[in-house]
Amino acid sequence: MTISTVIPPAAPSIDLATGRLVGATRHYEKRLKDLTGLYEDEAAFDALAVTIGDEVVYEVWEYRASERPGDLVFGSSVMKPGSVGQEFFVTRGHQHLIADRSEIYHCVRGSGVMLMEHPDGEVKALAMTPGVIAYVPPDWIHRSVNVGRDTLITIFSYAADAGQDYGIIERSGGMRVRVVQDGRGGFRLFDNPAWKPHR
Ligand code: NI
Repeated sequence: MTISTVIPPAAPSIDLATGRLVGATRHYEKRLKDLTGLYEDEAAFDALAVTIGDEVVYEVWEYRASERPGDLVFGSSVMKPGSVGQEFFVTRGHQHLIADRSEIYHCVRGSGVMLMEHPDGEVKALAMTPGVIAYVPPDWIHRSVNVGRDTLITIFSYAADAGQDYGIIERSGGMRVRVVQDGRGGFRLFDNPAWKPHR
């Protein structure tokens, strides 16, 4: 695509009950069995994978017009509720390949956490309920966590040239904290002993 290409306007529509984006240019699904290595309790993961390994645990609908700098990608993320042992379901998480590209996530259904980690080690966990717009600033690694009993639906938008580095979390032994059940129906943060600093 050359810089002179005219990109047509569009108005895709998100079903707020299901999260489906009508008019999406891409849709992908993650099944539980695709998420090996994400969770602390590997025995609990293996046991769960035997029963619901083929179930879709999250899916993403996106509308992408281009990868041109200054353009936007937007869409919806739909996450099932659940946990592996005490640890709530998470998305794989990433940093943007062009790390200074930021992102927003607007929660429209459910109860979640936007878990963020700066490469210098700082951690931020923002509670997400309908109406909340979580802002992921430049450079921050980010992942969504469903801490409720309902489906978590968020609408996201980020810079079209951002890209995703899904390996950065794996290279540091996971994110610095994990989001686990607090035993009272809520969540708490748990320090990940396997975490190593990024630099
Ligand atoms: Ni992102």
